[in-house]
Amino acid sequence: MSESVDFTDIYADEAMVDRATEVIRSGRYVKGPMVERFEEAFADFCGTDHAVGVASGTDAIYLSLKAAGVEPGDDVFVPAHTFFATVSPVLELGATPVFVDHDPETYTMDPDDLAEKVSAADDPAAVVPVHIYGHPAEMDAIGDVAADHDLAVIEDSCQAHGATYRGDRAGSLGDAGAFSFYPSKNVTVAGDGGMITTDAPDLAREARMLRNHGRNDDGEHVRLGLNHRLGELHAALGLEQLDHLDEWNENRRAAAERYTERLRDVDQVDPPVARDHVEHVFHLYVIRVPDRDDLQESLETAGIDTGVHYPVPTHEHPAVSERLDGTPQVPRTEELTDEILSLPMHPRITDTEIDQVCATIERHYDR
Ligand SMILES: Cc1ncc(COP(=O)(O)O)c(C=O)c1O
Repeated sequence: MSESVDFTDIYADEAMVDRATEVIRSGRYVKGPMVERFEEAFADFCGTDHAVGVASGTDAIYLSLKAAGVEPGDDVFVPAHTFFATVSPVLELGATPVFVDHDPETYTMDPDDLAEKVSAADDPAAVVPVHIYGHPAEMDAIGDVAADHDLAVIEDSCQAHGATYRGDRAGSLGDAGAFSFYPSKNVTVAGDGGMITTDAPDLAREARMLRNHGRNDDGEHVRLGLNHRLGELHAALGLEQLDHLDEWNENRRAAAERYTERLRDVDQVDPPVARDHVEHVFHLYVIRVPDRDDLQESLETAGIDTGVHYPVPTHEHPAVSERLDGTPQVPRTEELTDEILSLPMHPRITDTEIDQVCATIERHYDR
């Protein structure tokens, strides 16, 4: 009888406990030195001049768009194949999401479809490419379209901590990068948290004000802003985790390589692709199969946890669809959602576990 296989694994160690204890003993829970230290370390890690800690990845996207000047009525280009939180900030700002289809190989935003949709738009203002599953979007081609139409580029890097595109890290490839530290992410703050990365001092200053009630350094509320701050405890835990990130990403890549090698001969399975000019960080290892629901059931029966990211295209969720004029033209996304399956993936997954998942998939197709 084989063991069950978990989808993910949440890391904890004594060093994290020590960091938390240090903050608790200090009595500084907000606006203290840990957030600043985490911001500096994260900016350094991404290769940007600034990083601004916020309360979640969703806040990071929302505040980046706002700080970049997106206004009600503007058109903001988003992939249709992503998590809801890439799109909800656009709608919260009163802007209009324009849905772009994906590259059939990497599932990231298709720059040709982007170019077409930008040309047809009335008020193009920003684009939010998502480095989905940990594979960077085609930032050169997207950047060219953005430059031609004066679009702000906000990278949704919530699944791509440490990923590189032509040698540069996610978060340093556009006007700003938005990161999530939700517990299942490649690095977490042991709770909710987020970060904005940027080289632009004005955008960083604006984001810092907006996250703290729109307040400037003189204590005046010069913007209408809410409270989107990151707490000291979370920052301290993020700082500790960041030290492990490169090693954990290496482990994820090694696990992905083993999966792909093992699944190579299973005709029904399309394994994920990593283009030569990127370093994928495999936040998720997502295969494409013709009978997703059946395969998921076989794996579940064998005690193997899987996921679907995402079962419904973003524009089909009621909160989005009821705010749209017309149906977005994204035929590839509609097909993809029924065929994708995320296999167990985390830095501590063992070869035995991967082999067990692959053997179950082989048996499923040998029936
Ligand atoms: C692609 C993407 N965008 C945005 C988010 C939102 O991040 P958070 O859950 O920290 O608000 C997530 C993570 O959940 C995500 O995966």
